[in-house]
Amino acid sequence: MKALVLAGGTGSRLRPFTHTGTKQLLPIANKPVLFYGLEAIAAAGIHDVGLIVGEYGEDIRRAVGDGASFGLRITYVRQERPLGLAHAVLVAREFLADDDFLVYLGDNYLQDGIAEFVRRAADEPAAARLLVTPVPDPTAFGVAEVDGAGLVVRVEEKPPCPRGDLALIGVYAFTPALHEAVRAIRPSARGELEITTAIQWLIDHGLDVRAENTTSVWRDTGSVDDMLEVNRHVLDGLTGRLDGKVDQDSAVVGRVSLAEGAVVRGSRIVGPVIIGPGSVISNAVIGPYTSIGANCRVRDSSIEASVLLDGADVEHAGRIERSFIGRDAVVAAPPFPYAHRLVLGDHSKVHLNP
Ligand code: TTP
Repeated sequence: MKALVLAGGTGSRLRPFTHTGTKQLLPIANKPVLFYGLEAIAAAGIHDVGLIVGEYGEDIRRAVGDGASFGLRITYVRQERPLGLAHAVLVAREFLADDDFLVYLGDNYLQDGIAEFVRRAADEPAAARLLVTPVPDPTAFGVAEVDGAGLVVRVEEKPPCPRGDLALIGVYAFTPALHEAVRAIRPSARGELEITTAIQWLIDHGLDVRAENTTSVWRDTGSVDDMLEVNRHVLDGLTGRLDGKVDQDSAVVGRVSLAEGAVVRGSRIVGPVIIGPGSVISNAVIGPYTSIGANCRVRDSSIEASVLLDGADVEHAGRIERSFIGRDAVVAAPPFPYAHRLVLGDHSKVHLNP
């Protein structure tokens, strides 16, 4: 079985970060979200991976390389425009050849991995096998209607009046029968070739489509809130390790991963917290549930339940919570107490206290 990992897309819900990079490389506990998926695929015994990339393909190529460090052989497939998940399958036709294949969305986080799902897909073949989970608001997802035997009788994309609560969570196993479906379907009202339309085509043509329920912790990391939640979840499993320097005026409490070359001075770090190489923390309180990337500087500030990307610089900022701070972004105190000076990119969000 091969895998097709989708790392193109628009990422409009993650602006402004996706104005300058791709969401699949945004970090969860200092590791790109895409890497969690690639590791899960390798752990499931799949080695041949087609990686769909768009505008930021070069960044992904630089980060992932030929896949050898994951135990994978990666073939890059360029999707000129994000025209839908089924369109990605269409452009990967040559790579997929006539093999069975997994489709995995590159911004997906699935705690329990996919080994069981892949094993069952191999043992009990079906034209399509969908991983599903009940969600409180199915209107934001592809939704599967499933009969008592696990056969899918209908799938709908973001239905206004869902017939059930089982959301498709972005992991699918297909036989080559899908290729005829993606060629046959037409774009949806939002102009995308939807994978759900292709799956419905399989059902309408009498082919076996099965759903498998997962109870694993799962998130589509499509928004900042989702990123922060997954960050929190992954940090819960963090192993503490202090390779950097902590001075005598500092306290480190709980599980803290401090990379080599990181420095903590006169600060209190309350785990779980991860701090990347080259970062310097002084007179600060960090944590819990905070990921600080490489080469960041935090001075005279308190940061909780947040993510700082590489090179972020925070000084005299008071207390920061549930924040996601971009690469090389600067947060500093206003020059006098009651004025804020803001230089914000398009689609930025700032929450100010009165
Ligand atoms: P989505 O998160 O559904 O779409 P998006 O990336 O366009 O984001 P937004 O809705 O915020 O604008 O995409 C799921 C995954 O599939 C994600 O990793 C991006 C990828 N993708 C492609 O590779 N090609 C595509 O044509 C689309 C639509 C998504």
